[in-house]
Amino acid sequence: AEVGLIIPAAGMGTRLGSELPKALHAIGGTTVLAHALRAGVGSGTVSSIVIAAPSRWETRIHEQLEYELPDTVEARVVEGGERRQDSVRRAMDALPGNIDIVLVHDAARCLTPPALFGDVVSAVAGGHDAVVPGLPVVDTLREVDDRGVVVRTPDRTVLRAVQTPQGFRREVLEDAYRAAAPDEPATDDASLVERTGHQVHIVPGHSEAFKVTHPLDVLLAEALLARRAS
Ligand code: CTP
Ligand code: MG
Repeated sequence: AEVGLIIPAAGMGTRLGSELPKALHAIGGTTVLAHALRAGVGSGTVSSIVIAAPSRWETRIHEQLEYELPDTVEARVVEGGERRQDSVRRAMDALPGNIDIVLVHDAARCLTPPALFGDVVSAVAGGHDAVVPGLPVVDTLREVDDRGVVVRTPDRTVLRAVQTPQGFRREVLEDAYRAAAPDEPATDDASLVERTGHQVHIVPGHSEAFKVTHPLDVLLAEALLARRAS
């Protein structure tokens, strides 16, 4: 199967408080996007990449590719949209015709181990329509109403915190985006697929696939890079 990788990288990194868009924020001397590209390419499973870039930053995003891509991998940059799902949709429209499995991976999950990409691809190639890495939840979660009053405490043992890369049969992902209601936003791709009635399969996630969201995550990423280098 030919595997295409979509990297939503168009976010501004507001919670990080960075001067640059988060994808261009450097961690350990390398940008978030370049780390993510290394992981995706390093998995050896991907033949095409489409990056959704923050508007007006396309050139700078394109420059990242020169350093990180072998000649065997084709890459394109598209302008991202307002919400993550708008960025993914635009990137999906730019995927080459030969792709039959699509991975969607947040640039912000930049230190994801390459092997996780392989695990997800294998599960899709093995017959699952949609595959998502997930980890058991460590905190007790509470559902609250708009006044902050607890409504419900769900059973934690049946919950999973989901990550990326998420993998799909191409038609399944395209159908999900075609069916997506514009006013019902989704924070990941598998939730759109779920709404079309397809089964979403969970594979074990990885603690190092965490998303760089807040400044504390940058500290964690730096520590992890230092440990990997030693
Ligand atoms: N993303 C995107 N297009 C958007 C919003 C987000 O491609 N309109 C991407 C981000 O670049 C990131 C991933 O989706 O790789 C996950 O989003 P998040 O962690 O929320 O990143 P930001 O939106 O940049 O961060 P913040 O919400 O703090 O501004
Ligand atoms: Mg965001």
